[in-house]
Amino acid sequence: MKKILILFAHPAISRSTMNRAMKEAVTGLDGVKVHDLYRRYPDFYIDVEYEQRLCEEHDVIIFQHPFYWYSTPSIIKEWLDLVLQHGWAYGSEGRALEGKCYCHALTAGGDDTTYRSRGANLFTIDELLAPFRATANLCRLRWLPPFAVLGIHRGLPDELIRSHARDYHSLVTALRDEQLDLAAATNSAYLNSNLAGVIRQP
Ligand SMILES: Cc1cc2nc3c(=O)[nH]c(=O)nc-3n(C[C@H](O)[C@H](O)[C@H](O)COP(=O)(O)O)c2cc1C
Repeated sequence: MKKILILFAHPAISRSTMNRAMKEAVTGLDGVKVHDLYRRYPDFYIDVEYEQRLCEEHDVIIFQHPFYWYSTPSIIKEWLDLVLQHGWAYGSEGRALEGKCYCHALTAGGDDTTYRSRGANLFTIDELLAPFRATANLCRLRWLPPFAVLGIHRGLPDELIRSHARDYHSLVTALRDEQLDLAAATNSAYLNSNLAGVIRQP
């Protein structure tokens, strides 16, 4: 069984619908730690040693967050700036994260048609995540495409919110139980594009 670390970042969780439902769907699962960064660090004073130890103790790292200005809420940038130290995360001696799987679980207002070169947002989600992918590469993390819930500005019916939350639960348990076909998943645009197709049955 793999150990999963979910670094959760939503600065206004009381106004969240999608991230809250997704968070609830994976909270309390065996082998899964949901670590709420804004709750733990309301003043942004990140405990670097604690965060590094958490990463070392887990096999899969997921940043779960709403898409803010084509990126993450700011505490994730602060986390990256402070936690990914030379000699620990990267550099010739920095191998603490080597081989761990890493992905984003993100929600966005714009729908899929807006995230393309001729769409309103000009770039794909994959292109916009390039700095995170490059970071993963430098830290020898294994990059997986994002779990993405798009089109939230249209308003998602309750049943669809529940269905995305169930999918997220399935993804996280499949990662934990090593049932995700990593090669197939890496070729998907989003991990949830064809979730049933990338999860192996036990
Ligand atoms: C400060 C801010 C920036 C945002 N930037 C984007 C963006 O760049 N692209 C996008 O599609 N949606 C953007 N949104 C919409 C959020 O991604 C959307 O409200 C969120 O994913 C909904 O999830 P929630 O119900 O968990 O809050 C932004 C919202 C806020 C408040």
